[in-house]
Amino acid sequence: MLKAGLVELALGLIIFINFTAQCHGALPFGFDNRKGGRASQFGFDNRNGGLDSQFGFDNRKCNGKGGHCLVKNGALQFGFYNGKCNGGDVEAIVGGVIQAWFKKDATIVPALLRMQFHDCFVNGCDASILLDGNNSEKTAPPNLSVRGYEIIDASKAALEAKCPGVVSCADTIVIATRDAVSLGGGGRYAVQTGRRDGLVSLAQNVDLPAPSISVSDSINAFAKKGLGAVDMVYLLGGHTVGVAHCSLFKDRLYDFQNSGMPDRTMDPMLLNILRSRCPQNATTDSTVNLDQNPKSALVVDNSFYQQILLQRGILQIDQELALDPQTKGSVIYAARGLDFQTKFAQAMVKLGAVQVLTGTQGEIRTSCRVVNNP
Ligand code: HEM
Repeated sequence: MLKAGLVELALGLIIFINFTAQCHGALPFGFDNRKGGRASQFGFDNRNGGLDSQFGFDNRKCNGKGGHCLVKNGALQFGFYNGKCNGGDVEAIVGGVIQAWFKKDATIVPALLRMQFHDCFVNGCDASILLDGNNSEKTAPPNLSVRGYEIIDASKAALEAKCPGVVSCADTIVIATRDAVSLGGGGRYAVQTGRRDGLVSLAQNVDLPAPSISVSDSINAFAKKGLGAVDMVYLLGGHTVGVAHCSLFKDRLYDFQNSGMPDRTMDPMLLNILRSRCPQNATTDSTVNLDQNPKSALVVDNSFYQQILLQRGILQIDQELALDPQTKGSVIYAARGLDFQTKFAQAMVKLGAVQVLTGTQGEIRTSCRVVNNP
């Protein structure tokens, strides 16, 4: 009896410590890729929609100052499509397409990562970014350089060939991104599925953060999506791959905040390189790697954090992450490489649960570019 009581007490303590850690971001989540149940505590819905959802997300639990927010999502599941695709393995079907594509073009890793962020941050992860139209989300300025739509089309075509009308475009983005991250060296994480596709996509809904956003405003923007400051730091680690156009950081090179001077937080050697790559009066908009470690510009790893600690961030927000007391600690921790893959995976899973449609909400699109009954 006494022994059982002690065991119970110990378990209670572990759960309490783990809960506290999740709310305040001080300790790792205790996330286990193989055990679906644990991670289905992520996610939330502030549309408060479906009959099937047991969300109960509470903004007050996520004040943006701490790290992870403990939120419930009973609707998304690991292996939602098991047994639903005429004997086909949905994740393997997408995986095959992504692997073949990656062999031809490794830049699909940044393309898909950015696509998932831009989908989930606007109207939730509902594939609204994929819809074509004169005034759809993809026509909004921050989305003009989003790439990879044809990769999702190819994945969806492979899925439709095996089981028509079963797998959502929203899930296809999340599965494809996971596979790309894994091929890019970021480790393989389990993804939840069961999202449905949205019916609305409007350019005016696109309120993505600008590269000059302050850390405080960015923390608030992520908090509105149920993502804590630690999640934000790890998600911005997505800038460990891919490129940025000169036009999006040129102010830092020549006339930072109307001072007539460059951004003093930028390493002078990098400044020189970027000035020659992005001349002030250039007529073309070139690109530079977001991760300035040349060996790892296409590898999903923690070198981005090491670079920003060396004042070699490209975007203003990236550099600020390493300087602002609200985020610096997480950046130093991530740069040491102790837990990047796990924390990045957790943050991606949480991002993938933002304002999802489930159950009977939305629809399963036949073509990702158009709603079923336009
Ligand atoms: C405050 C939040 C963020 C801001 C202000 C921001 C801003 C930007 C900007 C300005 C670019 C360059 C776009 C271009 O030149 O065309 C970019 C690229 C990129 N972003 Fe972000 N971003 C943010 C968060 C994220 C997150 C959370 C992820 C992923 C989890 C992400 C992944 C990427 C990737 C992979 C690229 C490179 C895309 C490519 O090479 O095609 N970003 N971001």
